[in-house]
Amino acid sequence: MLRRLLPLMLVLMTCSVTAQTQNSKMNAFVADLMKKMTLDEKIGQLNLLTDGGGVPTGSVVNTNVEAKIKEGKVGGLFGITGVEKIRRAQEIAVTGSRLKIPLIFGLDIIHGYRTTLPIPLAMASSWDMKLIEKSARTASLEATADGLNWAYSPMVDIARDPRWGRVAEGSGEDPYLGSLIAKAMVKGYQGNDLADKTTLMACVKHYALYGAAEAGRDYNTTDMSRIRMYESYFPPYKAAVEAGAGSIMSSFNEIDGIPATANKWLMTDVLRKQWGFTGFVVTDYTSINEMIDHGLGDLQTVSALALKAGIDMDMVGEGFLSTLKKSLQEGKVTQKEIDDACKRILEAKYKLGLFDDPFRYCDLNRAKTEINSADKKAVTRELAIHSQVLLKNDNNILPLKKSGTIALVGPMANNKDMLGTWAVGGIPANAVPIMDGIRNAVGSSVNIIYAKGANIADDPALARNAQVFGKKFDIGSPQAQLEEAVQAANKADIIVAVVGESSEMTGEAASRSDITLPESQRNLLEALAKTGKPLVVVLMTGRPLAIVRESELANALLLSWFGGDETGNAVADVLFGAYNPSGKLTMTFPRNVGQVPIYYSHKKTGRPQGDGPTQKFRSNYLDVSNDPLYVFGHGLSYTSFSYSDVKLSSNKMAKGQTVKASVTVTNSGNFDGEEVVQLYINDPVASVTQPVKKLVGFQKIMLKKGESREISFNITEEELKFYNNDLKRIVEPGEFHVFIGTSSSNAKKASFNLQ
Ligand code: BGC
Repeated sequence: MLRRLLPLMLVLMTCSVTAQTQNSKMNAFVADLMKKMTLDEKIGQLNLLTDGGGVPTGSVVNTNVEAKIKEGKVGGLFGITGVEKIRRAQEIAVTGSRLKIPLIFGLDIIHGYRTTLPIPLAMASSWDMKLIEKSARTASLEATADGLNWAYSPMVDIARDPRWGRVAEGSGEDPYLGSLIAKAMVKGYQGNDLADKTTLMACVKHYALYGAAEAGRDYNTTDMSRIRMYESYFPPYKAAVEAGAGSIMSSFNEIDGIPATANKWLMTDVLRKQWGFTGFVVTDYTSINEMIDHGLGDLQTVSALALKAGIDMDMVGEGFLSTLKKSLQEGKVTQKEIDDACKRILEAKYKLGLFDDPFRYCDLNRAKTEINSADKKAVTRELAIHSQVLLKNDNNILPLKKSGTIALVGPMANNKDMLGTWAVGGIPANAVPIMDGIRNAVGSSVNIIYAKGANIADDPALARNAQVFGKKFDIGSPQAQLEEAVQAANKADIIVAVVGESSEMTGEAASRSDITLPESQRNLLEALAKTGKPLVVVLMTGRPLAIVRESELANALLLSWFGGDETGNAVADVLFGAYNPSGKLTMTFPRNVGQVPIYYSHKKTGRPQGDGPTQKFRSNYLDVSNDPLYVFGHGLSYTSFSYSDVKLSSNKMAKGQTVKASVTVTNSGNFDGEEVVQLYINDPVASVTQPVKKLVGFQKIMLKKGESREISFNITEEELKFYNNDLKRIVEPGEFHVFIGTSSSNAKKASFNLQ
């Protein structure tokens, strides 16, 4: 045995010796460089600027950027794109500044770069880690070919409140799934070597708890128990750190009364001491300056607080640049604090290979071959088909036949606004509208009658607020559009209505207090349903919407999210059965906004709701059930899967042992198809109350029609652990319930005892 392990041990030892040698080389290089640096030059490295070329999300953009680079006052730039521009800026740094220290170049590369991939919440619905990793790899290949080396992604904020517009940027409500996705993304961006000219440094954001903003209002206060932080909100950030993420972005919100950007407990105790993070921390856009508004003091005070908390780089606000020297002279910060931050920035540049070759990401030939290449297009289509979630399909109305007449209606049916939020590098002109996708799929075999049917919204205030980055709403006469759509429907065999939100109705600073479909589109669906023609609804959205009525009206409901460039082709692939949908929700769809926040892994309360109608003195509502409209993990297929009972290898688990839980899944329908087999655990009696269910495993499998397969999960003590009041992860003996099934509410149960 030892003889067999020996070669592996040798490889591991060689790797660790190589890593140590690399580290000591880096340490020596950085120490040597820092000896030559003045205080001003060190502070300069902590300064991240933008010339406003990207999307300025705060009130400030920087001025005199070129002069500042020459004076050694800039550590990095973001928001500029393109090899030539980036090369020019880098030249200024490495020829014009005294110590010739290269800059790093960042951008919000959130779901693809020039080729826009589906929004992250959509990609999460694929539950396919290989594909998700590929999405980040695809973005890296394009962005590094365009001069960039630093991605402000992945966004791993757990989100349980669909009012918050930024739910579109993350992977939903679950910490286990969120952690796997965080890891896959970091791996996809960074690969095994940051100095490789095709990899980007990841920047995990927004640390921390940004997704728990009160009332779903962006930038708002968060407040929660530490147990909840550790159990439900921290895991994806921690997973990203464990995956080796090179950098982290602080969040705008406060935690325990102290904004994250000044929160030493968060930035140093948890991040560095508990999790062992060795990369650097950048603030979010002007989040140091915003602490003045939070009420923590003037710019000098808040800048010192941020540095002392463990922040290394100041995005845009120039608080570090303008006040740290004074704070050092006045004894408000220490030289060591400045040195530590500077060292981390230089280390990042070293790891990116910029000291060897500051222009390694500026290769015009790569730009020509990589950007918008056919293989990128293929990846975005692959991701888009896997991201769609079939919410409802009565009488197997889908897939559609390629014959007859289709009335294609709805404000999203023939527009290119399908890239979704935060597609700053995206090219809207490249988006394939659903109408084009359908035509590509069916050619002339189907007669398509198109009618827009409704405005995205008739409300001028909403239209104004949701069109900051360009015109997305076309306001036509509501009545005339509705009549045209009804006429189209009357002439057709089937209606395909494409409705939803415009891309700017989710994303940053796009919170909604009303998460229904805009009234114009609700009216359209009512009118279409009255025609009596079968109604297929395709829903384009960046957040879960409250669509109880619409889901009653629809015979089939396909959630397409914002699918990126290839949305039209991908939706057609699913509608006509070229691809059998397999997406599963990673965020609960509520019945109404009053149920929010709503998530599957809730606690029980001492007065749980009984079965049946509302009961007095129970934890329920007078006017709506506690159940959501569509649960976490839900998603149908054109085929059906049946599950056997759960078989356990034993009904007892001894300490340190494993219990194997198995089910046989059978494809009992008429199509080959993929299924996400989900494993949940419940600990019914514990010293800290536990959620009714917690996802601890899943497998995405492909079954041919008629095929059966046994699917097994090994359950260890790891899956049974929880955080206690001392924030220690522990496991307690006793009974555990295991659920395996097709969603969080449709699963077979078995139980065992941990001794
Ligand atoms: C957002 C970040 C983003 C940054 C830079 C901020 O407003 O919160 O997610 O990375 O702007 O564009």
